Amino acid sequence: MYLGVDYYPEHWPKEMVEEDIKGIKELGANIVRIGEFAWHLMEKEEGKFDFSFFDNVISKLKEENMKVMFGTPTATFPAWLAHKHPSILSEDENGNQRVFGGRRQYCFNSDIYREYSIKITTELVRHYKDEPAIIAWQIDNEFGHEGSDMCYCEQCHTKFQKFLKERYQTIDHLNETYGTIFWGQTYNDFNEIPIPKKTITTHNPSLQLDWARFRSYSVNSYAQEQTKLVQQLKGEHQLVTTNVSGGFFDKWFDHEENVELMDFVSYDNYPVWGGLAEPITPATIAMNHDFNRGLLDKNYWIVEELMGAQGHNVIGYLPRPNQAKMWSYQAFAHGCTDMLYFRWRGMTKGAEQFCYGVVDHDNKYGRKYQEVQSFFKDISKYEDVIKSDINAEVAVLYDYDNIWSWRFQTQSQEFNFTNELMRLYTPFYKFNTKMDVIPTTRDFSRYKVLVVPALQVIDEELGNRFKQFTQNGGTIIFSFRTGIKDKNNNIHFKKALPGFVAEIAGINISEIESLSSNQYVEVKGLGQYASNKGTCSVWRDIIAPITAETLYSYVDPFHSEAAITKNSFGKGNVYYVGGGIDEEILTEIAKEVVTETGVSFIESEPGIEVYEREANGEQYYFIMNHTAELKSFENVSLQAYESKIIKK
Ligand code: GAL
Repeated sequence: MYLGVDYYPEHWPKEMVEEDIKGIKELGANIVRIGEFAWHLMEKEEGKFDFSFFDNVISKLKEENMKVMFGTPTATFPAWLAHKHPSILSEDENGNQRVFGGRRQYCFNSDIYREYSIKITTELVRHYKDEPAIIAWQIDNEFGHEGSDMCYCEQCHTKFQKFLKERYQTIDHLNETYGTIFWGQTYNDFNEIPIPKKTITTHNPSLQLDWARFRSYSVNSYAQEQTKLVQQLKGEHQLVTTNVSGGFFDKWFDHEENVELMDFVSYDNYPVWGGLAEPITPATIAMNHDFNRGLLDKNYWIVEELMGAQGHNVIGYLPRPNQAKMWSYQAFAHGCTDMLYFRWRGMTKGAEQFCYGVVDHDNKYGRKYQEVQSFFKDISKYEDVIKSDINAEVAVLYDYDNIWSWRFQTQSQEFNFTNELMRLYTPFYKFNTKMDVIPTTRDFSRYKVLVVPALQVIDEELGNRFKQFTQNGGTIIFSFRTGIKDKNNNIHFKKALPGFVAEIAGINISEIESLSSNQYVEVKGLGQYASNKGTCSVWRDIIAPITAETLYSYVDPFHSEAAITKNSFGKGNVYYVGGGIDEEILTEIAKEVVTETGVSFIESEPGIEVYEREANGEQYYFIMNHTAELKSFENVSLQAYESKIIKK
């Protein structure tokens, strides 16, 4: 098991390296990540490569038997390169070129940038391919983060037109697919197609979705070019990864494709960042882990785990004593196998002065140091448990085309895909149900339950896969707006909604209403839920049940039709949640689902998360107290933010 810190020896006087390595070693670490922003240090002048700084650091690390993850430095190119070739700089929507400074300001479609990236990566990996201490390469740093996946420059424009030509072959085919007859937008040639920058009102939806696909292609073709290169050049003992940042559903690239050629996924886990007054919810942190484990369908690393408060210009919440440590236990519970904390020490200069690390600017080994030290000591005892596979019985599905389609047309001011995914994920999380968060293209047959939030893009093939899953006994939960669109981002014609899943859901959608902020519609339960009342926000599909049973209906003099339905189809069941229904009601639905399907679940008091793992025939519980209060689970008590691993 690798445990360590992100270390930036280039930030500090040379004389401190030995002392730092000693401090890192005493922390219980056996690995550091280095190098990912140090291009200039490796190539001060064009073509003059010099790795002696890192040679020296690595030789000192080796004296202490430490291993290294080395980052390729392409996220921060040297100033001389931008000066010589300004065309490498990306452009924002207003046509303003991003200037040198900050980071990640390169255009993925710049051929010049690609050439220079290939050169530096080649020299670096060749130099260290036989270095036994380097056990892994990190490609770039947080692809697409901080808005860097968007660029509107001329290079992007030309390549977008080429991309469309390859996709549609003829301009007539594109016109027909997009429906450019509308507003007389018919194109005579691919070279007339604009980049969808700001215009009056809005662009064609199919064009926008293709633009998102093109952004994804731009990021991922660059990432894959770099990954292939490292895979070819590296030593056999070295593995390849990249670090995935948070907010992945808000990005313009398909993450599964991004990591496809990597040996393992790494994730940067920041439950609180910048000006947030409090951390994201425990369920959201859990979902982030499940998403990253889902990318390659295997356990993963965390290469940046938060320990101190973080932010560039504004800082918010300070993790309470033991809280960051608790997040580390949670990460290991969900399938993290190896972990590095960000970062060894906070830097006195530069843009990240306020990104606090394990050690602060005073260089004293204090509370956070001890927290990490005690964590490393404890977690090392559970190597077998941690390496074991997680077999979830519930899958939560997403599809980037669908997410992008929503982003261009949110339909409700209140719509946000991540929120809608969390609306369905959270009730199951509360029952400590194991979930995989995966793309819709995966095999469904290994799951008992599919949770399908706001999947408005469903074509016939996917509809048939859902049908087969239900026929064979699976349970599906859809939420509102399901199946209204095809893969071109157009609405299905002559099809009752929810389109290709109407039959299995046993319903039609008769009318719809978009709900604005602070607008709620009351819902009431029927049958077993007769005593329940709750609310619906964001959106409502007014459901006409055909074969489905109504579980909840709207309280409304005009539209008192169904709000939540359940249909039995084949050997399975299909639930349809017609709107942004509140958590309490959905928690009861989740309870019905886990009980009925036999999915394993654990009841715990609010704020206590329990994750079951198995190794060598024995069961373990990871128990995390996400609250500031004393809590208990079975006969185990937990102080504020305390975590325990116990044998069941
Ligand atoms: C991450 C990034 C690091 C550092 C950190 C600060 O997103 O990968 O380089 O900027 O945030 O919290």
